[in-house]
Amino acid sequence: MSDAEAQKRAAGEAAARLVESGMVVGLGTGSTAAWFVKALGARGLDITCVATSTATAQLAAGLGLTIAELGDTGEIDLTVDGADEIGPGLSLIKGGGGALLREKLVWEASRRCVVIADAAKTVTTLGRFPLPIEVVAFGHKITALRICDALSECDIGVAPRLRMRDGQPVRTDGGNLIYDAACGRIEEPAALASSLKSVTGVVEHGLFLDLAEQALIGGASGVITLDP
Ligand code: 5RP
Repeated sequence: MSDAEAQKRAAGEAAARLVESGMVVGLGTGSTAAWFVKALGARGLDITCVATSTATAQLAAGLGLTIAELGDTGEIDLTVDGADEIGPGLSLIKGGGGALLREKLVWEASRRCVVIADAAKTVTTLGRFPLPIEVVAFGHKITALRICDALSECDIGVAPRLRMRDGQPVRTDGGNLIYDAACGRIEEPAALASSLKSVTGVVEHGLFLDLAEQALIGGASGVITLDP
């Protein structure tokens, strides 16, 4: 196992120890969140889980975890999820795995959100990782032009690229498309978030601001905790 993978695993296992029987738990998406889900499954607790993607729901169900739909449980006590970048104040870029919309819906329905990651994910300024932006398929090329305008308003002069896999546009679990914007540096994430949300056709973007309460970061000398 690579160092990065071992760090993801350590962070996921540390987060699984935060869970107690009786909780409603939000399950993130991605390779780090998968370590959390596996560690949670191994604990055999009496919990109800809400998954942020079909892939995570399948993994969790296979481990014997009880899965409920978002909205069919009481408030989610704790959501644990990975991130693509962790910046100042636990501002995040998410959506590298394409689950940003469901992730944000689950995060916003949670009393507490903990982000887990390997050490390479921490940055001093967000933007090195291309920002995922989920859009409806209808008229997406026009929406991409409007996204360019929104980026320009924030002094970011890049054209977003339609995410492709095997020669086909990637579809999210909700059937939408994703554009990735290689911003470089996002100096004002809140302004960019609001600018992107104002574009008709944009369903959600991968900036997760003021949502994470804590980060558990795997590193060479164990897991450290970061607060906003
Ligand atoms: C999926 C996500 C993931 O949390 C993010 O891409 C990190 O993935 P990984 O843990 O595999 O590095 O936002 O939409």
